[in-house]
Amino acid sequence: MLYRRMNKLPIDLSILGFGCMRLPVKKDGNIDEEQATAMLRYAIDHGVNYVDTAYPYHNGESEPFVGRALQNGYREKIYLATKLPSWLIKSREDMDHYLDEQLKRLQTDHIDFYLVHGLMKPFWENLRALNVTKFLDDAIDDGRIKYAGFSFHDDLALLKEIVDAHDWTFCQIQYNFMDEQYQAGTEGLQYATDRGLGIVIMEPLRGGMLTKDVPSINNIWKKAPIRKSPTEWALRWVWNHPEVTVVLSGMSNFEQIKQNLVYAEDGFPNSLSYGDLILFKEAEAEYRRRIQIPCTGCRYCMPCSANVSIPECFEMYNQGCMFDAPDVAKYNYSFLGGMFGSPGFASQCLECGECEEKCPQGISIREQLKKVAAYFGK
Ligand SMILES: NC(=O)c1ccc[n+]([C@@H]2O[C@H](COP(=O)([O-])OP(=O)(O)OC[C@H]3O[C@@H](n4cnc5c(N)ncnc54)[C@H](OP(=O)(O)O)[C@@H]3O)[C@@H](O)[C@H]2O)c1
Repeated sequence: MLYRRMNKLPIDLSILGFGCMRLPVKKDGNIDEEQATAMLRYAIDHGVNYVDTAYPYHNGESEPFVGRALQNGYREKIYLATKLPSWLIKSREDMDHYLDEQLKRLQTDHIDFYLVHGLMKPFWENLRALNVTKFLDDAIDDGRIKYAGFSFHDDLALLKEIVDAHDWTFCQIQYNFMDEQYQAGTEGLQYATDRGLGIVIMEPLRGGMLTKDVPSINNIWKKAPIRKSPTEWALRWVWNHPEVTVVLSGMSNFEQIKQNLVYAEDGFPNSLSYGDLILFKEAEAEYRRRIQIPCTGCRYCMPCSANVSIPECFEMYNQGCMFDAPDVAKYNYSFLGGMFGSPGFASQCLECGECEEKCPQGISIREQLKKVAAYFGK
C-alpha cells in the first residue's frame, strides 16, 4: 500500500480508502455482516487505514456495523471518517445530538475525519445560518472530532464559497476522468488544494459505471502498451493527481478489494504517460458519443407541475446508456430526490407538455420520459 500525507497533518493515509456505502448485502437487503466484517478487516490487514461511513448508508446500518467490525483492535489501526447528516439539521442541538449518537453507533470516543455530508446550496445556507463551523470548532476543542471537512455535490461556485468560509482540513469531492467539468471538477480540486485543503475522492469509478465491459471502450484501452482493466485505468487516473490523498472505493465483494489493493501498489502521482492520458480523452469522447437524450441540464423545463425531476431522469438514463450500466443507473435512480426531498420519477409525468414549450433543445420530453420510465421500471 502507498501512503500520502494530507497537507500539514503528521499522518500517512492509505491512498485506497474503504467506503462503507456499498457493503455486501443478504437477500433481505441487510448488510451481510460476516462477509463485510471479513472484507473490512482484510483491507485493513493489507494496509488500508482510512474508513469512510455516514449516518444514512445502508438505511442507517453502516455506522453500527462499522462500530462492531472495528472491535478487537481494528479501531486503533485506522482513521475513521463519518458525516453530519446535513439535511436533518434544524438547530445546534441537532448537530450535537447526531454527533453524540454517531460516537455511540461507532463505539468510539472520537471521529478522526468528520464531514458535513453532501453539501448542496440549501443545506449549506441552512447550516451556515446555524453556525455549523462553530459547532465543528467546539467538537474539535472537546475532542469528539479531530479534523473537520465537508463532502460536496453542487457546482463550482458553491464549492469555492464553502472552501473560503472556514478553515477546513479537507473536503471530499466526486472525481474521475468523466467528471473533470462536473460538480467541483478539476478547477474545484485545484481551488481547494491551493487553499490548503486535503482532498479525499469519492466515486472514482462513477459508482461502478467505469468498470463495465463496453466493447468500444475496451478497444481504446487495448491500444496501451500495458494491459489494464477499465477499473485499474480509472483508479490510476485519480491517483495520478498529486493533489489527491485518499481515493475511496465502495467495494462490494472480496475480489474487488483484492484487485484494488493490487492497483493501489502502482498508484503513484504523475505516473501516467502522455500516451495514456490521450487514451483517457478518447475514452471520454466515446462514452459521451453514447448519450441518448441531448439534455444539457439547463433546467429551463423546471419546475414540473407533476414534480418530475426531468434533468436528473435524463441524466441517469443517459448514464445507464453511456456506461452500459443499467444496474448502477437503476440503483442511483432509486434515490432520486428520496434522501433529500420528494421523489421525481419519470413515471409521475402527467403529459401536460409545459416543459416542452420551454426546452431550448427541442426535446420531446414526454416521449423521452416514457422511455426513461420503461428503462427503470418501478
Ligand atoms: N459524501 C458523499 O456524499 C458520498 C457520496 C458517494 C459516495 N461516498 C463515499 O465514497 C465511497 C466511494 O464512492 P463509491 O462507492 O461510489 O465508489 P466507486 O468506486 O465509484 O464505485 C463503487 C462501485 O464500483 C464497483 N467496483 C469497485 N471496485 C471494483 C473492481 N475492482 N472491479 C469491478 N467493479 C468494482 C462496485 O460496483 P458493484 O457493487 O456494482 O460491483 C462498487 O460498488 C462510498 O462508498 C462512500 O463511502 C460519499
